[in-house]
Amino acid sequence: MAQLNLQYRKDFPLLRDSDVVYFDNAATSQRPDSVLAAVDDFYRSANANPLRGLYALSVEATQRYEEARKKTAAFVGTHDPACIIFTRNTTESINLVAYSYALSVLKEGDEILLTVMEHHSNILPWQMAAERTGAGLVYLEPDEEGFISDEKIDAAVSERTRICAVGMVSNVLGVMNPVRKIADRVHAAGGVVVVDGAQGAPHMKVDVGELGADFFAFSGHKMLAPFGIGVLYARRDLLEEMPPFLRGGEMIEYVTRTSATYAELPHKFEAGTVNAAGAAGLSAAIDYLDMVGYDYIREREEKLASLMMEKLSDIPHVRVYGSKDPLKHCGIITFNIDGCHPHDVSSVLDTENIAIRAGHHCAQPLMKYMGVGSTARASVYFYNTEEEVERFADRLSMVRSWLGYGD
Ligand code: ALA
Repeated sequence: MAQLNLQYRKDFPLLRDSDVVYFDNAATSQRPDSVLAAVDDFYRSANANPLRGLYALSVEATQRYEEARKKTAAFVGTHDPACIIFTRNTTESINLVAYSYALSVLKEGDEILLTVMEHHSNILPWQMAAERTGAGLVYLEPDEEGFISDEKIDAAVSERTRICAVGMVSNVLGVMNPVRKIADRVHAAGGVVVVDGAQGAPHMKVDVGELGADFFAFSGHKMLAPFGIGVLYARRDLLEEMPPFLRGGEMIEYVTRTSATYAELPHKFEAGTVNAAGAAGLSAAIDYLDMVGYDYIREREEKLASLMMEKLSDIPHVRVYGSKDPLKHCGIITFNIDGCHPHDVSSVLDTENIAIRAGHHCAQPLMKYMGVGSTARASVYFYNTEEEVERFADRLSMVRSWLGYGD
């Protein structure tokens, strides 16, 4: 295991060149030099439209794009690069499944199983699919700590469950869902499982086979890669049967005035000019995560989350949501301070150059279930430090008095 020191922080220009305490990693991570360099290098030395030109530069662009696909396939534990579709982000990946797969297979009386902890990106596409097909939406509800019991899973899954869409890790509570357990029940009932890996892939090794994911969606930007590059992994047999989602250039085989046949996988699902520079950045991000290693990432996040929970428990009027065990938070600590609106908490901390997220975190059904309108959220990544946690906790302890609430 790598030494627990700050050797990696210096690779992140925004962190090394400023004294910001960046605790909004669940929204987007920072990027290391190597990722920025890979994007820069693509534009400087391989820039041409990939998959189209017959000249050397376009061939080079295509090669870099397809190499990124191979690396991404290995990253999620598949040997078949055709199962990797590049999208813009997790949201687009899930919409692809909803529009292409769900609308093709669902019928009235079928059910889509979700958890109430899902981010809106893993709710709204299914609401659309339910509205258009007459399928029903069923929600699994967690206990106070965010855990979903076996009994609830057993009660919710039936032969009507055609699709289950579940987040690997809640972006609010940081809790890891029992994806494999849910997947086993759903598969036994004949359904398929869509895993929203947006908050999982940056923090732990993904193996789509071990998870039981028929579809796995994630975003590059939460795991050191540029904005605008996302991934959908899908089982090849499902992709073969699914109609295209978006239609246009480079996803075709042959086009007449009135009809078209489509390209082989994965290009059938990648209409228009692709984000090859973003894919190059994602490839560099995967290399960087491999170099750091998930053991190190987890150990750092656990240390920082433990320290943060300890410090927050010493501050009167602070309530942390979810598990009492910091090791169950994947680096995400969501909280409120009695009497203070989370927006005010975030704004006041911002004056101290501390960046946290406040609001409903695009998870309004969970907020309602928790009985709150909004919360504050601090989310760490492996490059954060104990000193930053101390500074955050110190300033947080003063927020109530700064906002005029006395102690
Ligand atoms: N899903 C991102 C978050 O939780 C945007 O902040």
